[in-house]
Amino acid sequence: MNKQADVIIVGSGLAALQLAHHLHSTSHVIILTKTKIRQSNSYIAQGGIAAVIDKDDSVHSHVEDTLKAGRYHHFTEEVERLAGEGAAAVKELIAGGLGIDREADGQPSLGLEGAHSAKRIVHSGGDATGRHTVEHLLATLPANVEIIEGEMAYECLLSEDRSVCIGVKTKNKEGQIHHYWSSHVVLATGGIGAIYPATSNQPTMTGDGIAMAFRAGAEVTDMEFVQFHPTLLFKDGAARGLISEAVRGAGGVLVDENGVSLMEGVHPLRDLAPRHVTAYEIYKALARGTAVFLDIRRVQQFEKQFPTITALCKRNGVPISKGFLPVAPGSHFLMGGISVDSNGCTTVPGLYAVGEAAHSGVHGANRLASNSLLEGIVYGRRLAAFLNRHIPVKSRPADMFYYEKQLKSESAITLSKEELRARTMKAAGIIRTSECLQNHVSYLEKLGIQKWIESGLDELDRDAIEKIDMHINSYLISRAALLRQESRGAHIRTDFPVEEVDWCGKRIVQTKDQINI
Ligand code: SIN
Repeated sequence: MNKQADVIIVGSGLAALQLAHHLHSTSHVIILTKTKIRQSNSYIAQGGIAAVIDKDDSVHSHVEDTLKAGRYHHFTEEVERLAGEGAAAVKELIAGGLGIDREADGQPSLGLEGAHSAKRIVHSGGDATGRHTVEHLLATLPANVEIIEGEMAYECLLSEDRSVCIGVKTKNKEGQIHHYWSSHVVLATGGIGAIYPATSNQPTMTGDGIAMAFRAGAEVTDMEFVQFHPTLLFKDGAARGLISEAVRGAGGVLVDENGVSLMEGVHPLRDLAPRHVTAYEIYKALARGTAVFLDIRRVQQFEKQFPTITALCKRNGVPISKGFLPVAPGSHFLMGGISVDSNGCTTVPGLYAVGEAAHSGVHGANRLASNSLLEGIVYGRRLAAFLNRHIPVKSRPADMFYYEKQLKSESAITLSKEELRARTMKAAGIIRTSECLQNHVSYLEKLGIQKWIESGLDELDRDAIEKIDMHINSYLISRAALLRQESRGAHIRTDFPVEEVDWCGKRIVQTKDQINI
């Protein structure tokens, strides 16, 4: 099948839907999703949207909190833009019909989360902000937007000289290959949570968009910065889902198995310290053999405030009434990603990225809580404004690039997903060392990672393509983490434990041909 559109959006989270909403109603827009339209990280996001709504709050303070949490490794202008445009973007959603939680006097009810110096988290349905916002955007999606589910995008279609992106190739569940042509292809495919054994992410988050862009020649930046969320519900040795930081904002306290506070004396913000600090403390306690719990006994009306988490605990046989929820950290968010400019353009003309898949420079070395949904709504709108100025489309180049070599399924036999996850965690998890990282990078190189990057994937099934994408992301993260010889934000090197002034703002940029600092 061949199809053409003015804009093709791969992915269906908040950034994708916000973009689709703001494109001209005269342009034909196609949203492609690997599985179902609601299978996104945005859909399960609990915390909310950080925005300067309260009259006593300020953009300056939101910017400062963001910079501090991310250890000053941002594009500061982009952070100013994010915080500055945030309130307007949120108000626009509310004016469009998004119902948010309010106080008795009708004012927005604003939550507090880690490393925020003010209550500024707008939420909806208690801890169901992601679901409510996505449902709102889906219900109001304009008629010019076509949704096609079950199509896994796996390769950019490129002009013959490989200089311009002219569409995407997809595979449906039956393995049929389809071509979607467009002068504007947007990757809104989210992050890489599912390349780690424990994650708050959807299992579909295998970094497909990032691998696809990288294979097409696009640049990626800051891949070493992977945020681990401190509190995933942990039962029978496995992560079962997220327990929002908002629970700690409402009075939850991290304790060890003797009920002793974990964060007392560790950081001035104690339980609301930046995520890398809390996650590392929990990691160390677990490594000592001490179980860690979130003590929720002081949280008022837990079930009413946190219906999603209550249901999660019930599903997993964890009684809320006892007041102690077993927790452990898990992969949550990628601060790095496909390099984009302030509009969302990648280094390959015709290819764009938005949301977690993109590196826009707003998160630095560690993202501030509830800045991700904010990024989606601000940058989705921003990219739409840019694309609206560049449609109608240019005519398509006559000739297209074809890979000389196609990977055969037998040559793509790699680690199982489980093995790859375990190895990625060991090398590039919460703590990293030169030795572990070097071993993993060498191992992936011996397996044939370069060949997978340089060959076509037409003959592989979707599961094998996902595996290749996971390997490529694991490689990009580990290679960058090996080079960054310091600890900064979420990147903790036990052999280089100090945050070095000289490394601040130095970015590790990778393309197929080189890796540069
Ligand atoms: C949370 O609710 O703790 C996660 C929200 C976020 O990552 O910003």
